[in-house]
Amino acid sequence: MTINNSFFSSRRSVTAKKMSANSIDSNDLDKILAAGIRVPDHGALNPWKLVVIQGMKLKQLDEEVILTEFKKDNPEASKGDIEIESSRLQRGGAVIAVLSQPVDHPKIPLWEMQLSSAAVCMNLLNCAQSMGYAAQWLTEWYAYNDMMLKSLGGNVSKDKISGFIYIGTKIKEPNERRRPDPKDVITYL
Ligand SMILES: Cc1cc2nc3c(=O)[nH]c(=O)nc-3n(C[C@H](O)[C@H](O)[C@H](O)COP(=O)(O)O)c2cc1C
Repeated sequence: MTINNSFFSSRRSVTAKKMSANSIDSNDLDKILAAGIRVPDHGALNPWKLVVIQGMKLKQLDEEVILTEFKKDNPEASKGDIEIESSRLQRGGAVIAVLSQPVDHPKIPLWEMQLSSAAVCMNLLNCAQSMGYAAQWLTEWYAYNDMMLKSLGGNVSKDKISGFIYIGTKIKEPNERRRPDPKDVITYL
């Protein structure tokens, strides 16, 4: 069987730090989002939500949520730290926040709903990278911050942020990183 797996066997993330934050073509973004929600989902419950952050909203969330929350927890923060926290999201041209939003279900376990949300993150990443964009899946500290979750429309009593998919322009091709030896992680019964 011939399978074109060259993309999947060589795919790499480009770190948010190293991507250029040009805005993302809206047709491309639509394609990435459409691919992102095309995931296995037991019971077709759609137990996730995608929030697209771009343009001025990146700066607004950086300042009103990330920096504000960081300062609250780190009153003694250095100038360098303040600089980093004031422009986290602005490293991307667009950032897609993926929320795990489980629903009550008599048969389908919570874990499976959360796994489906991770599949959304991976599909977004694969699609953006296959189109030549720089992309990275990050959580960093603010994925675990209640104010961030609320700002994205999440319910802090049950929802979680599965990740922020940063998308930008590649400045250069990333180097390969260390990969596991298949023998260490795969067994055949
Ligand atoms: C759920 C999740 C959260 C992550 N959060 C971070 C993070 O906060 N900071 C970081 O440096 N890398 C984080 N990573 C790892 C990056 O995505 C990293 O770039 C990736 O492991 C590179 O692998 P790749 O080239 O195979 O895509 C996270 C990965 C996952 C799956």
